[in-house]
Amino acid sequence: MKKNNKESFVKDKGFWFKLWELLTPSKKRIKGLAVLTAVFELARLLGPYILKIIIDKLVNFKPEDLIVILYLIILMFFSEEINSLLHYFKDRIIFRLVTDVEYYLPVNAQKKLVFLNLDYHESENTGNKIIKIERGVQKIIDLLVNMSWEVIPTLTQLLVTLIVLFIVDWRFGLSFLFFAPLFVFITYKVNKDLQPTRRIRHKNYEIASGKMVQSIININTVKSFVQEKREVKEYSSIREKIRVNELKEWFKLLRFGLGRNLVIDLGRTTILLLGIYLVWQSKASIGTLVFVITLSEKAYFSLYRLSRFYDKVEEGAAAVDRFIDLTKEESGVINSKNGITPKEIIGQIEFKKVDFVYKESKNKALNKVNLKINSGCVTALVGPSGGGKTTVARMIYRHYDPQNGGVLLDDKNLKDYDLYGFRKFIAIVPQEVEIFNTSVRDNIAYANPKADFKEIKAAAKIANAEEFINQLSKKYDTLVGERGIKLSGGQRQRIGIARAVLANPRILIFDEATSNLDSKSEKLIQAAMQKLSHGRTTIIIAHRLSTIKKADKIIVLEDGQVAEQGSHYELANKKCGLYAELLKLQRMGEVD
Ligand SMILES: Nc1ncnc2c1ncn2[C@@H]1O[C@H](COP(=O)(O)OP(=O)(O)OP(=O)(O)O)[C@@H](O)[C@H]1O
Ligand SMILES: [Mg+2]
Repeated sequence: MKKNNKESFVKDKGFWFKLWELLTPSKKRIKGLAVLTAVFELARLLGPYILKIIIDKLVNFKPEDLIVILYLIILMFFSEEINSLLHYFKDRIIFRLVTDVEYYLPVNAQKKLVFLNLDYHESENTGNKIIKIERGVQKIIDLLVNMSWEVIPTLTQLLVTLIVLFIVDWRFGLSFLFFAPLFVFITYKVNKDLQPTRRIRHKNYEIASGKMVQSIININTVKSFVQEKREVKEYSSIREKIRVNELKEWFKLLRFGLGRNLVIDLGRTTILLLGIYLVWQSKASIGTLVFVITLSEKAYFSLYRLSRFYDKVEEGAAAVDRFIDLTKEESGVINSKNGITPKEIIGQIEFKKVDFVYKESKNKALNKVNLKINSGCVTALVGPSGGGKTTVARMIYRHYDPQNGGVLLDDKNLKDYDLYGFRKFIAIVPQEVEIFNTSVRDNIAYANPKADFKEIKAAAKIANAEEFINQLSKKYDTLVGERGIKLSGGQRQRIGIARAVLANPRILIFDEATSNLDSKSEKLIQAAMQKLSHGRTTIIIAHRLSTIKKADKIIVLEDGQVAEQGSHYELANKKCGLYAELLKLQRMGEVD
């Protein structure tokens, strides 16, 4: 977003520098390619030059020259063959380069994304992320292909042409030096003019893709409330804006194209007139005229191609820039270098005066929270919705860092640990269990892919999931659909529990793990939870207080603050206590 104020992406020196950094693994190859291209372009001059000699010999034809001409023709043939061989090797490098980049750019982007912290993912829309990567990679490939096949060759060619023209006759050189920059100026001008509309168009691409993803992700709601037509209308109106804008851009480019053609034609005519004049004045041979015209025609044509490339670069620069921004994105949570990687943990957690505010939020989600979660005990977090329970769980994982205060694990600040070193000792059954579009078996074994079938089945049994899994068409091999669409809410939750069981963590967090279950299943899960909690630090977040009666300690969170804490017995008998209040309300509403 910061880049939006920039006048032109390409003008920005940082753009090329950043792109060069992005292509680090290919730097050597690109340099090699540039050298080979220069050699190739020089070698290409040989053919036209031999032709010039041949024509000059023909104009003043002497029979004894015949054999020389024959040799020249053979030489020309071989020079062409050498050229095509050079061309072959050059193209091989280009294809290697392109396929390499096509491999490592998306792979690195995906790596970056999955390692980026949760705060980034929560602030950025899925559609935007995907389009950033796809368009970015595509445009960089386009750029590379064009660079390799058009820009580097053309630039070398232009330089060589200019030098040769000056050598042949300074007037040729001068005329070329006059028209070429004029052409470059027009190209630059049109692109500068187009920059604002292009920027709007690229923003609209992201909005469109975000819209598409939103309506597909929430398709159930769309259908339930019969909003299909509205979704279609909203999407098409964004695409319509893009269409109109883009057409305007292209038409403008075409109009400028007329101007550019005129400059080129003037340049060519000048060279021709100049050439004829010099031949007439006997200052140049016919062969030289042909040589110069061949050279300058090629150069002017290249200039035109170069300008189209520049149009394209400007066109794609916004997308590339966004992609580069993504690769430069930094996690809000920074992993400490040489962090502690414990072999085992005790599992004692302490919050010391923790203050935490979510980005773009005004209220404190946690406000001077002091709490202790003892090792090997069951601690329950309860309280009104929005009180900060899930936030506490996230802080234990260090998905976020507190603005003030600290979270300690075994008396050491979480910041001193290696992120991945301590997280592997924790498992969570989140409020919304995320299900992959694979089999039930793979979903359960997600945290422990090496687990054998026996272990998977045992975990499913503990989670009370075995019964429904056995009723699925292919049992453990049943594919569950995207985000587990083919499962009920309670079934997804039980898969989540089985997954956590299999992870065999030291600290186990249940965030509303029984909220989607009926009373009978809930009781079974509670029994399972109790079994599981032996010897582990267990944190249970629950609205239904029946779930946590047996907890060793209950912490009541309200508005980001610890309202009270103690055992069920203590809190239930506290006069005017929040817990006692909640308990009373639930008892009155409870059916069974
Ligand atoms: N990603 C986020 N960005 C901004 N604010 C957030 C985010 N997640 C939660 N909040 C806010 O932080 C506060 C605490 O949320 P939290 O999810 O911890 O509540 P909770 O106690 O788990 O509630 P519930 O019982 O409904 O699950 C809420 O006011 C919520 O709006
Ligand atoms: Mg919550």
